Amino acid sequence: MNRGNQQKSAHVTTRRLLDMKEKGEKISVLTAYDFTMARILDRAGVDVILVGDSASNVFSGHNTTLPITIDEMIYHARAVVKGVQTETSRAMVVIDMPFMSYQLSGEEALRNAGKIMKEHECDAVKLEGGYVIAETVKRITDVGIPVMGHLGLMPQSIYKYGSYKVRAQEEREAEQLLEDARLIEEAGAFAIVLEKIPSKLAETVTRQLSIPTIGIGAGGSCDGQVLVINDILGLNREFHPRFVRRYADLDAVIENAVMRYVDDVRSGSFPSADESY
Ligand code: KIV
Repeated sequence: MNRGNQQKSAHVTTRRLLDMKEKGEKISVLTAYDFTMARILDRAGVDVILVGDSASNVFSGHNTTLPITIDEMIYHARAVVKGVQTETSRAMVVIDMPFMSYQLSGEEALRNAGKIMKEHECDAVKLEGGYVIAETVKRITDVGIPVMGHLGLMPQSIYKYGSYKVRAQEEREAEQLLEDARLIEEAGAFAIVLEKIPSKLAETVTRQLSIPTIGIGAGGSCDGQVLVINDILGLNREFHPRFVRRYADLDAVIENAVMRYVDDVRSGSFPSADESY
């Protein structure tokens, strides 16, 4: 992400994340999908903002992450990058490559990763998958585009799994995940998200890799943690998974504020003389 002629030194880079792992400093990651939220997150000091394809669920209301398109991701990414540029310009911005934007061929994956990087000057892209996409990760990183991996529960494969339950509880899947993590590191990824896997396995992966692991439902041993912003703010009252810690109940706060506004409009108490010209 270009912030004027020179990057501000405080801007979080892939190098900085590696240093944080080496020093045992935990990495904080949150999702954002728009300008206003990105500004707040950057001001609050989050290290990495992920423009997650969870936008498909929490922004667009789809049941899964599959329907979101590359152009929709670029729309969200552009707004988030602007929000970060407006504030301290500290947070690294990573964009999820959506379903079927990188699976068909290495060439298409590279074209799409390049499109994402060129159109709004973000810092990196994120791809889900292990050995199947290792070549693709190498191809993208070889041209200088930083890649974050994503293993464990991979929401783009939800129809294959058939449920959102914890992954890699059995030995074979756990061994495969460990092998996949090594391959994705070797392919050049600078970090890997580990979603919904047993804490013990996440601890082993974290110990064995030299790049940072970012956990979501993967326990406290990961080098960092990521959550969906809507979940920590309590914007979805129906969603209560064990791995989410709720820091606010904005669903209720917003509903209450809107009810008061509707009452004031209906009663004629808004706008007052002071609120008029
Ligand atoms: O899309 C997303 O929000 C994600 C995180 C939950 C890791 O991939």
